[in-house]
Amino acid sequence: MRVLLRGGRVIDPSQGLDEILDLLIDRGRIAALGRGLPAEGAEVIPCEGLIVTPGFIDMHVHLREPGEEWKETIATGSLAAVAGGFTAVACMPNTKPPNDNAEVTRYILKRAAEVNLCRVYPVACITKGQKGESLTEFGELKEAGAVAVSDDGRPVPEAALMRLALEYAKNFDLPVISHAEELSLSAGGHVNEGLASARLGLRGIPAQGEAMAIFREIMLAELTGAPVHLAHVSTRQGVELIRQAKEKGLPVTAETAPHYFSLTEEATFGYHTNAKVNPPLRSEEDRAAVEEALKEGVIDAIATDHAPHSRLEKFCEFERAAFGLIGLETALPLTLRLVERGVIGLPRLVELLSCAPARILKVPGGTLKEGSPADITVFDPEARWLVSEETLRSKSKNSPFLGHEMKGRAVYTLVSGRVVYRLS
Ligand code: DOR
Repeated sequence: MRVLLRGGRVIDPSQGLDEILDLLIDRGRIAALGRGLPAEGAEVIPCEGLIVTPGFIDMHVHLREPGEEWKETIATGSLAAVAGGFTAVACMPNTKPPNDNAEVTRYILKRAAEVNLCRVYPVACITKGQKGESLTEFGELKEAGAVAVSDDGRPVPEAALMRLALEYAKNFDLPVISHAEELSLSAGGHVNEGLASARLGLRGIPAQGEAMAIFREIMLAELTGAPVHLAHVSTRQGVELIRQAKEKGLPVTAETAPHYFSLTEEATFGYHTNAKVNPPLRSEEDRAAVEEALKEGVIDAIATDHAPHSRLEKFCEFERAAFGLIGLETALPLTLRLVERGVIGLPRLVELLSCAPARILKVPGGTLKEGSPADITVFDPEARWLVSEETLRSKSKNSPFLGHEMKGRAVYTLVSGRVVYRLS
């Protein structure tokens, strides 16, 4: 019932905390933070040399269940999540069938409860069948447990329908997550337009297409007064528009994924299909702009866009390969590289991976305040490990970092005070 995390460096931006402390958990909640807390009746977990933070929340993953269980399941995806230090994930609705009705939402929650590792927050579709034609029943979906709506994987093609979605979602206090892509410019593309498209002889996806779509969403946020969250921002132009929107005080938030600040289009140069992702890996200029935006607060959150695909969908010609890469287990070490390079500090890392996603999705977490649920990540920033098919827990292995050494790893992941992952 009682767990004592002893002597870790507790970093919690929600209380401005960064010091060596004990943390006592009682009946699934944070009971006390302090020095030399009594260990009587508690399981003691030594955390000396480790960092203790509010549990990471990945607000953008694909768990592939129902319908594509050969790629990932709620069970294997949850395992990858907790191994990566995530205590909660929000799963995107492009399943088969798509999560466009309460029955699918309830199914996901039922499976997640049976698996019982991390919290799973279903994101439901904005439009029926993600077809971009008519809206889903936001009220019913919220009641069934959806925390947000998105047509992720596809944009909502018509501005008027997106406007309606924002107005409708505002009434239900449901966050709207936009996959910002101008389909008429990206259609048929496989890689970034520029160096990668020229080098590989493949049709490109221009950065300006993302920026145009982001601009539309910003204008609609202004028109409706409803908040809009921009998923997987990958371009300098997109970042500039978000910066301007925030300066105007518009209700706009944004996320990026670790691959957009860790890699560039060069990763695709050998026709490496594990680096094929949508939006595509961009230029060094874009990468640098995304990194700067994380530092400045123009981008609010880091989410992985964990997109598992089996060998079947990836071990083939580049043009036939599916878009997407897995990210749950490499997000922490890749973000720690920003800390190592002095771009951000550890408190900002915690803000990006935990506090901001909780705030944007309006879900519990993102804090170690007394009384809050004991969702906690304990990690070793120095632990070195090799990314390989053997070390990855995800059912799919489509990581562009296979064979790379990482520094930083979750050691304990706790959900409601229960150790759901322990590094062995
Ligand atoms: O690369 C991607 N993969 N981008 C998306 O938007 C969807 C995702 C998927 O579902 O595989």
